[in-house]
Amino acid sequence: MNIIGKNDYKNLQKLILNRNFKKIFFLTGYNSFYKSGADKIFKNISKNKEVNFFFKKKYLPELQELKKIIKLINKFKPDLIIAVGGGCVLDYAKLANVYFNEGNIEESVSKSNFNFKKKHSKLIAIPTTAGSGAEVTPFAVLYINKNKYSVENEFVKPDYYFIIPELIIKSKKILKASTGFDAIAQALESMISVKSNEKSLEFSKKSLKLSIPNYINFIKKPNIENTIKMCLAANLSGKAISIAKTNGPHAASYPFSVYYGIDHGHAVSLTINEFMLKYYLNSNYSITSFDLKERFNSIFKLFKIKNIYELDAMLKNIKNQAGLENNFKKLGINISRDYNKILSGVNDQRLKNCPIRIERNDLKSILLTKK
Ligand SMILES: [Fe+2]
Repeated sequence: MNIIGKNDYKNLQKLILNRNFKKIFFLTGYNSFYKSGADKIFKNISKNKEVNFFFKKKYLPELQELKKIIKLINKFKPDLIIAVGGGCVLDYAKLANVYFNEGNIEESVSKSNFNFKKKHSKLIAIPTTAGSGAEVTPFAVLYINKNKYSVENEFVKPDYYFIIPELIIKSKKILKASTGFDAIAQALESMISVKSNEKSLEFSKKSLKLSIPNYINFIKKPNIENTIKMCLAANLSGKAISIAKTNGPHAASYPFSVYYGIDHGHAVSLTINEFMLKYYLNSNYSITSFDLKERFNSIFKLFKIKNIYELDAMLKNIKNQAGLENNFKKLGINISRDYNKILSGVNDQRLKNCPIRIERNDLKSILLTKK
């Protein structure tokens, strides 16, 4: 279900009424729920229903908090879970809904052993950020002891999603900058991922056509129109990475979030220029089934530019305008001191999806030479 526009919550109300859900478990964050105005919308929806709430506290989806959520779900036994929030909330809901009867989550994620047979309840995802597209992806992130794992399975995907722009338009500028950049990066990376195909390419292109002209205005001069366009761009980028997955910039981003508390989209933005340059300049050695240089030409067309150096300049300019700090030092990141720690947190699964072979040494040079 994909409904966008003002007063969409009426369709949400209809769905809950028609399906006769009786017990609703709300998984949300305090800010997501009250500051976005979601509380007013859900007051009506949950009338005459048995309702239980969980407000997540952690900044990233972590095992201990996930276990708490699972305990509550098993006790309350909802027939519907509604997740209202950003990527972390949505990931918690997606994970709890498949891990509700799993004894050893650590073992499952560390061995990528995802034999889910069923979900606990129907799950509705309602994002309060325009970024990750987590409402449509069949994967979720989980951190265990500062290591990032990706849980990937069709059962992880939410059953329904609703995009309510009124909940998103009010979010803070810095959050819009970070989540919106995530949508751009996901669409861009998925265009050149090893796993990219015709279908994912279509989603990526559609996403970029919406995000490139609307991203900065969505941050600086938000209105319903540019908010809807960014929501759509995020949603399409989620559909693109569901097929093509992300690569270098995402692979390298996780330690920046874990060790330095940098928001996901912002963390992804930190190395995107360096990866794009590296990919393009080594396109003769590409490991993709498609012509990598041709694919870059499509990217240049979408950005209305001529070459890789203009793409580099444009991405820098976009980050600058969005207020995303691009300098490691200013972010308190000492690469030459910390690169072993950072490299140990890089996601190998995503790294393998780069269009050229990227080894740990390449990564080191990308991080050390970043200006
Ligand atoms: Fe992302």
